[in-house]
Amino acid sequence: MFSSPNSPIVCNLPRVSIVGAGRVGSTLAQRVAEKNLADVVLLDIIAGMPQGLALDLMEARGIEIHNRQIIGTNNYADTSGSQIVVITAGLPRKPGMSRDDLLKTNAKIVVEAAKNAIAHSPNAIFIVVTNPLDVMTYLAWQATGLPRDRIMGMAGVLDSARFETFIALELGVLPADVKAMVLGSHGDLMVPLSRYATVNGIPITELLDAATIERLVERTRNGGAEIVELMQTGGAFFAPASATSVMVESILLNQSRLLPVAAYLQGEYGLEDVVIGVPCRLGCGGIESILELNLSDREREGLHTSAQSVRKSIERSQEILAE
Ligand code: NAI
Ligand code: 2OP
Repeated sequence: MFSSPNSPIVCNLPRVSIVGAGRVGSTLAQRVAEKNLADVVLLDIIAGMPQGLALDLMEARGIEIHNRQIIGTNNYADTSGSQIVVITAGLPRKPGMSRDDLLKTNAKIVVEAAKNAIAHSPNAIFIVVTNPLDVMTYLAWQATGLPRDRIMGMAGVLDSARFETFIALELGVLPADVKAMVLGSHGDLMVPLSRYATVNGIPITELLDAATIERLVERTRNGGAEIVELMQTGGAFFAPASATSVMVESILLNQSRLLPVAAYLQGEYGLEDVVIGVPCRLGCGGIESILELNLSDREREGLHTSAQSVRKSIERSQEILAE
């Protein structure tokens, strides 16, 4: 028999709340818990569904050997005091649908989720995953009123991972040895920076010809749609969850990793009042700094074209929310 101490010890373990317990949200819950990063609250509008997922994940704890709590709920009060809130609530893309087709439905869902979550976790750092990503991050920033270092979107880590995968497959090397960065919006106008891509420090321009690199860039731009076309029933979720968990990890463990993150810009790269993917140092305060790279004329133009398209969607989203 265990004996109880006189005064119970109160442990304030980090808590990550995930709004939207669908494919990305539930896989992220698994990653966060099994990496032993934090306790997880999974919230969804569907009654019973997050509770069932949480129980399933809890029953795996003995096998996976961790002791993290996973709570499933339909009530935002259970997310109180979260260090990080991840918003994955909303519809995924269906075949033939562009990310911007999602705007109408997901704008209202994300604004509602952001407002409810911030009310219970005023000190949290927010990561938005819902598409169209850059616009949804902007709306969540507006809805929460958070300073820009505490709200960001996940896309660049995923897009970069895809680019790295395609380079690794082409060269037959270990994916972890390939490092690449993709900036810009999450969509057809993303900006993969091929001249900064390396295999253990060797520029890929030394290893692949220009036409091959262009083919891999195009495949990266089409990376999400390629999976939607294959699956026919929703989009990617394993790699998106992994990419989000890397951001969660860098924040919770104060790793200061330099990652491409959708951030609210105030003059960086000559862009103002828009959310777009740029290299950011992520630590316990959220976005610790934004790195301004020296871009070529073509890359800079690509980033600005990308930003213009996001800005148009932001304007459209403001109309939708005002209706
Ligand atoms: P899913 O359909 O599996 O899950 C979405 C969940 O959101 C559902 O369980 C639904 O019940 C829930 N939900 C809907 N309205 C809600 C509300 N008001 N409050 C709480 N929960 C609500 O979709 P999946 O595959 O998990 O994708 C989620 C979102 O993430 C989509 O918009 C998708 O396009 C996006 N996505 C973004 C990526 C990125 O790189 N930024 C990558 C992959 C997905
Ligand atoms: C992806 O890139 C659909 O945004 C999602 O997989």
